[in-house]
Formats: sequence, C-alpha cells, structure tokens
Amino acid sequence: MLNTLTPQPEDKILALMALYRDDPRDTKIDLGVGVYKDATGHTPIMRAIKAAEKQLWEAETTKSYTALSGDPAFGAAMKTMVLADSVDHARVGAIATPGGTGAIRQAFELMKLANRHGTVWTSNPTWPNHLSILKFMGLANKEYAYFDAATCTVDFDAMMASLKDVKAGDMVLLHGCCHNPTGANLTLDQYGLVADLILEKGAIALVDIAYQGFGDGLEEDAAATRLLATKLPEMLIAASCSKNFGIYRERTGCLMAMSETADNTPVTQGTLNFLNRQNYSFPPDHGARLVTMILGDATLKADWMAELEEVRLGMLGLRTQLADELRQQTNSDRFDFVAQHRGMFSRIGASPEEVLKIREEFGIYMVGDSRLNIAGLNAQTVPLLAHAVAKICR
Ligand code: LMR
Repeated sequence: MLNTLTPQPEDKILALMALYRDDPRDTKIDLGVGVYKDATGHTPIMRAIKAAEKQLWEAETTKSYTALSGDPAFGAAMKTMVLADSVDHARVGAIATPGGTGAIRQAFELMKLANRHGTVWTSNPTWPNHLSILKFMGLANKEYAYFDAATCTVDFDAMMASLKDVKAGDMVLLHGCCHNPTGANLTLDQYGLVADLILEKGAIALVDIAYQGFGDGLEEDAAATRLLATKLPEMLIAASCSKNFGIYRERTGCLMAMSETADNTPVTQGTLNFLNRQNYSFPPDHGARLVTMILGDATLKADWMAELEEVRLGMLGLRTQLADELRQQTNSDRFDFVAQHRGMFSRIGASPEEVLKIREEFGIYMVGDSRLNIAGLNAQTVPLLAHAVAKICR
C-alpha cells in the first residue's frame, strides 16, 4: 500500500523554516514562520507560564483523562477571554483542541457534519493551511476579495462585493484580528457591516483568532469577535493560545460554538465532544491547564498581561522603526502601511522574484508572498531589511 503514495505538496511556511536552518550564513535573518522572538532571537517561555508550571508540578496528583471537551474550566476561561460578556455563555459550547489549527479543523468537521455541500469562504489571501485543510477534507472553498496589493490595505468594497455571492448555509471565515498573512485589518465598523451581510445571507461566521493581544491590546483585539457575537445568532470561534501564551509546542487551542439559544447547547456541546473523540479522543491538557491557571489567578494573570503587552509594544516599535527606515531608504512613503498594519505579520507587496533575491543576496527569509514576521526583527536588523527592500524592490 505505501508504495502507492505520491509526494504531498510542501507547506510553504514550514519549507522556508528548513531552508533557513540549512543556510550557513551567520548574518541570516528569519522573518518566516509566525513565532515570536525577542531582541536576541530567542522565543522565551513567558514568566507566568513558568510560574504556573512550577505550581502545577507541585499540585498535580494525576495524569488520568480529563473530559472529551478538555477540562470544562478551560472552555469557561477561554469564553471569558475571547467573548467577555458579549453573549450569554450558556449559549456557547467549547472544546479544547490541539492548537488553533486543531480548532480550525474541528470547525470544518462541524461544517461537514452540518452542511457538507456548503462553501467555506476565505479571504484572498489567507493562512495557506486554511486552504490546504479545506482541500484535504473535500469541502468547497471560494475566496472573497480582501487585500489590495497596490496599497497593501483592505479593499473593503471589493470584499463586500464578493461576499454578495454567499449562500445560506455557507461558512465565512474571518480573521478576528491581526490578519495572517497581510497584517491589514478591517475596522470595527466594517466587521459590523460584514456581520450584517452574513446575517442577511443566512451563513455562519467562523472567526479565527490566533493573535489576540498582538495587535491593539488583549481586549481591543477581541472587539470584532464580540461584536459579531452580539449581531449573529450562531457563530464558531477558533482561538489559539500558541502565540499569546507562547506555548506553541503544547498545542493549545479552543473551538467555541455559539448556538442561537441555550436550549441548543447540549447538542452542540455533545457534537463537539463527539468530534474530539473521532479525531483524537481526549485533547492535550498541559497547555490548556496552564492557561486556565493563569486566567484564574489574579497575580499570574497580571504578570502574563504585562509581558504580553511588552511583546505587543515591542512589535509596534519595530513597525514604526521599519516604516521610518523604509521611508528614508526608499525616499518615499510607499511602505508607510507597515506602521498601520497590526499583529505579527505584514505583507509588503514584493514579487516572488524580489523575495527570492532578498533571500539570496541578503540572507533575509520571508514567505514567498512577501509576508514578513515583524517579531523576527530587532533594532539592528531593521535597517538591514530596509536596505535590502530598497535595493531590490524598485
Ligand atoms: C504561521 O502562519 O507562520 C503560523 O501560524 C505557524 C504555522 O503553523 O503556519
């Protein structure tokens, strides 16, 4: 059987990680995969995570199974962090999942169960793995216009025009904040208009929120998701703790499913639990437990929020520095959008050939669509990137 297999397409982000690793130049700069790095290039374990791990090591007396949903306290903590009081939590079912990707996958599984012939609408562009998973699962996918490559901003009119073709029962995948890969985001008013359209069409929104706290702040970044929750009768939310808690390898995510009334929740929750059982049975617990401990303890939470804010402000500072450097080195305001973008990424509008040249000549690695990870920079490397971009992108 195995000799019938054919090679699968490479994931471009992961392939870039390998290319970077194999580059012998010690001046190389990694702006590829979405992992936060401090000024020394290290991905630290957050202080509150370390403290919670220590407490957990002392207090944990069993590694027996939790529940199919994961510990319900994790679901409750995630509802509070993402939704706050925008919706009655009794309307929302939740499961722990292996990372945000696991939550996305389970949301698509739910779509397959509920409406296997519906179409999932994704922004053009979106995180490539959205498209890869949809294709693998055999779900229909259509793209809605999103990014204006000429200005590197959202083309909202084009977006609304393409969403006019959404049909009842379709799913519209929105990035809750910090759009990946572009860094260009909707305003809150625009999210409201998208919600109105989704409601009018009878579709369901799936919000992918993987960078809460990396854009304008922990609460600010959840505002769009909360607004959608107040406007729509039903909604799915795939949340990740990989980035904002820095626990990438612990695989910690949560899928929330908001039903129209609390009467629906037992069946919704039961279906979510069933999907966990079919796909991997009990979800990973360690990261989810740390998150629950931090969100439930005032001291740990304050320290986590303070560190997350340091991370966010550090990235914002790098954005400003990069926009200034690019302004000087290109003698134009062409790249000013870098300071307006939010989150870990910016798509800077370089062609694939230019991206390749920047990699070959300068050892600077960004994804082929010219997405760069702002957190991969530091005060010393920003001028080097600006120089490379100014030289290659004419
Ligand atoms: C990214 O977009 O770089 C991250 O979400 C990591 C990944 O798994 O692709």
